[in-house]
Amino acid sequence: MNLPVEIAASERLIVALDFDTAGEARSLVEGLGDTVGFYKVGWQLFLGAGWPFVEDLLESGKKVFLDLKIGDIGTTVRAAVGNMPDCSAGRLEMLTLQGGRATVQAAMAGRGERTRPWLLMLTVLSSMDDADLGDLYPGGHDSATLVDVIRIRARMALDAGCEGLIASGESVRDLREHFSDRQFLIVAPGIRPEAAARDDHKRSLTPYQAIRYGADYLVMGRPVTGADRPNDVVRSVISEIEKALQDREVPPGAG
Ligand code: C5P
Repeated sequence: MNLPVEIAASERLIVALDFDTAGEARSLVEGLGDTVGFYKVGWQLFLGAGWPFVEDLLESGKKVFLDLKIGDIGTTVRAAVGNMPDCSAGRLEMLTLQGGRATVQAAMAGRGERTRPWLLMLTVLSSMDDADLGDLYPGGHDSATLVDVIRIRARMALDAGCEGLIASGESVRDLREHFSDRQFLIVAPGIRPEAAARDDHKRSLTPYQAIRYGADYLVMGRPVTGADRPNDVVRSVISEIEKALQDREVPPGAG
């Protein structure tokens, strides 16, 4: 696996373009200019603007993380990933999956000989905590904590061949320590500057904490997209990332 060794602080921030229309997304991208080079496109924008928008972003030199959280039977996952347009598929940096070993193997088969997009497995949504897990698995809650479930899902995904994990909150540090002998990417959503609202994230970290604990990339949406001065927010996040890289506790997964 060829993961990046040195990633500049400014390239570690991925801004989530959670907008309804291409026009709104484009205006943020243009406003941020060269300050941000990496964007996440999820269901909200993808269903509204689709591949033409993704293609435009790629053409303008931006890196793209397509957050479709693909999870289906293996045959469908393989066909879906294989069906991404040739001109864009190999140029996407990241694609998210949810599911088990068969999902990962099918996505790898669909990706074929390409080295991109990196396949990232969702562990547990950052809008869920231990209590939500109890609601989902009422019988098993006493024996398996959120930390256990995240570790089990992480091991499965990495064993099956994923290049990385989506992880948030304290699980960033736990996964980096627990799988310290492995190379993999951690992409952390649910990132909030100290003073910002948590929104729907029950497990969130500041940019400084997430990088210090071992995340490689941070995903941030509303604190940037909803800001009066998005450039200021981004600049302050990047300077937190720079500081955290110097204070990093555990070696980065990619390094
Ligand atoms: O606006 P905010 O910073 O909360 O955006 C977080 C983004 O990360 C959203 O686009 C959401 O879909 C995504 N995400 C997440 N938790 C995950 C995986 C993805 O919040 N576990």
